[in-house]
Amino acid sequence: MKLVVLASGRGSNLAALIDARAAGRLPVEFAAVFSDRADAPALALACQAGIPTAAFALREYPDRLAFDRAMFAAVDALQPALIVLAGYMRIISDEIVDAHAGRMINIHPSLLPAYQGLRTHERVLRAGDRVHGASVHFVGRELDGGPVIAQVRMAVEPGDDAQALAARLLPLEHLLLERTVELAARRLIEPTAFGVALDGRLLDAPLQLDAQNRILRTTDGDVV
Ligand code: GRF
Repeated sequence: MKLVVLASGRGSNLAALIDARAAGRLPVEFAAVFSDRADAPALALACQAGIPTAAFALREYPDRLAFDRAMFAAVDALQPALIVLAGYMRIISDEIVDAHAGRMINIHPSLLPAYQGLRTHERVLRAGDRVHGASVHFVGRELDGGPVIAQVRMAVEPGDDAQALAARLLPLEHLLLERTVELAARRLIEPTAFGVALDGRLLDAPLQLDAQNRILRTTDGDVV
């Protein structure tokens, strides 16, 4: 399955996908990695892996829509089956989101629909939550608001600060993204008007990644 990855920063999620493919766990081809920041370490990582890259600068366009249209014209030219937002930190215009509905996924460090937006770890701590996690979802118009495909959960321990939570969650995010992209590559997941379907069956709740790195259906605990 052909992928385009969009990333704004460090690129650890991208690195996890590249490593998984190199290890033979992920049947994908990286058509390109694009960024809104020319200095994103994610672009350097992609270059090292021999993946074509390009950066698009918002200031070179009259507005956000023109910027999005330019970047996604480049994406569309490659005809990817899936677009992965891996730490892509810009809101994407509705027109572009609609045109790519069901073909674009995002990784977000919270148990959506809780804590859409930024500073999720701080907000989890402030609320006194005992459980935190990450979600991979189809991108919809609402920020971090599309149908959730899969999640991973993690306990909040006494004494945790935001940094500790982020550090403990990140490797789980990597596994979650890898396993979700794998499901997409195996053409097992699809969005429907009613939510996410797995192998033609509508999910009542997001899939769960467990501690053995298995993806489970939440309702019956069946391994996917
Ligand atoms: C991750 O925490 C991801 O969930 C969020 O941004 C961060 C990106 O990290 N959307 P990286 O650039 O993949 O290392």
